[in-house]
Amino acid sequence: MSLGKLIDNTTNDLSKRIDKQKVPEHVAIIMDGNGRWATKKGLPRKYGHKRGVSVLKAILKASKKLGCKVLTVYAFSTENWKRPPKEVDFLINLFSEVLKNEIDEIHQESIKIKFIGDISPFPETLKQIISSSESLTKNNHKFLLNVCVNYGGRQEIVKVAKELALKSSSGEINPSEVNEELFNSELLTQGIKDPELLIRTSGEKRISNFLLWQLAYSEIYISDVLWPDFNEFEFLKAIIDYQSRNRRFGGIELLPNESYKDSQYSS
Ligand code: IPE
Ligand code: IPE
Ligand code: MG
Repeated sequence: MSLGKLIDNTTNDLSKRIDKQKVPEHVAIIMDGNGRWATKKGLPRKYGHKRGVSVLKAILKASKKLGCKVLTVYAFSTENWKRPPKEVDFLINLFSEVLKNEIDEIHQESIKIKFIGDISPFPETLKQIISSSESLTKNNHKFLLNVCVNYGGRQEIVKVAKELALKSSSGEINPSEVNEELFNSELLTQGIKDPELLIRTSGEKRISNFLLWQLAYSEIYISDVLWPDFNEFEFLKAIIDYQSRNRRFGGIELLPNESYKDSQYSS
């Protein structure tokens, strides 16, 4: 049997283990490890980023096929400007190229694309492609792909605080009205349900300033696989792991047929 067939078979086996009733609606991914993947192969880092784009296409397809509704990916953080200018330029060009080449297919697949982050420092060409891609796909409802670029969770929270402070000082709202719902309505992700699952590749166990507010109760899955080696098989493993979690949201789990007994607290 060829390796490709074997991988297909094992992917099918995993698919069968998935509970279709418990598929996460929103999955967020920190796509990490591109540089290390290339370096390990003796290649310049840019090859890792290029390969990472094909992986994103595969995971977009896999998550849609599985029945997820929203995928939010971290493509460039507010801290990534610290990288050598050549790498930053390469990434910015790559975003433009990929978007130009893929937008028609994204649209045909009824996917809505949205960019989350402060795009103002990017070159005009990229800003234009972003804006035309968003307006082309704005009425697509099958699936939502959020691409976080020049995104930072802290910056987003500060932005919301500033908006609410301005609205308070102009009298549009009363400071006492500020609550989670109002806060949510000012976030860059407003209207989008929080991710049930966060996947980070490359074994790093940190959030790196990603969706700090929205990930409050997400299940976290760390994969040791570097992003350019990530695939549908690894994605399904993450989903199966997620489905085995007991999401308590601060409460306690009662076993089926068990009822809460106050007697547990009587002395
Ligand atoms: C993730 O891969 C892509 C971006 C942050 C743009 P990295 O480039 O961080 O790869 P590593 O972590 O150096 O291997
Ligand atoms: C997080 O990865 C940002 C993206 C994947 C875009 P980094 O590689 O920048 O994160 P750190 O520096 O290891 O925390
Ligand atoms: Mg990294």
